[in-house]
Amino acid sequence: MDVEQRTARYGRIVEQLRALFAGTTDPVARMATAAAVLHAKMPGFFWTGWYLLRDGALTVGPYQGSLACLVLKAHTGVCWDALDRGASTIVPDVHAFPGHIACDSRSRSEIVVPLRDSAGAIVGVLDVDSEALARFDDADRDGLEAVAALIFA
Ligand code: SME
Repeated sequence: MDVEQRTARYGRIVEQLRALFAGTTDPVARMATAAAVLHAKMPGFFWTGWYLLRDGALTVGPYQGSLACLVLKAHTGVCWDALDRGASTIVPDVHAFPGHIACDSRSRSEIVVPLRDSAGAIVGVLDVDSEALARFDDADRDGLEAVAALIFA
């Protein structure tokens, strides 16, 4: 699927989620729904889910895919990198990322985008892993940031 097709698909997913989210403002319901829709509709998504800041720890939230780590060691790995920098992180080859936390050895590339609440504070991240190398690019970053922006909208 080329960049244009992926961008168009993210656009349709955002519209679908916007309509679904009219049903509730509950962030857990919205995160679970977003994970289900993204995981089913985007090719190459091996693990799709959220990690949430709970008392300073990044703790797993709603997700789709194989069993994942429940709590991530602080300030280590890709999720913490995005959280600490306050910006999305794209990792083409997780084996080349120092400190990467391997919840499942099949993951080869990864993207993490920050999740912000309605006041703009970072409260967690949206994390997607793929079994393919270099699966994620700027089109995925833009699409996933648009999805994350809907959770507290
Ligand atoms: N690889 C992540 C940990 C979470 S799993 O990919 C589901 C990291 O390095 O933060």
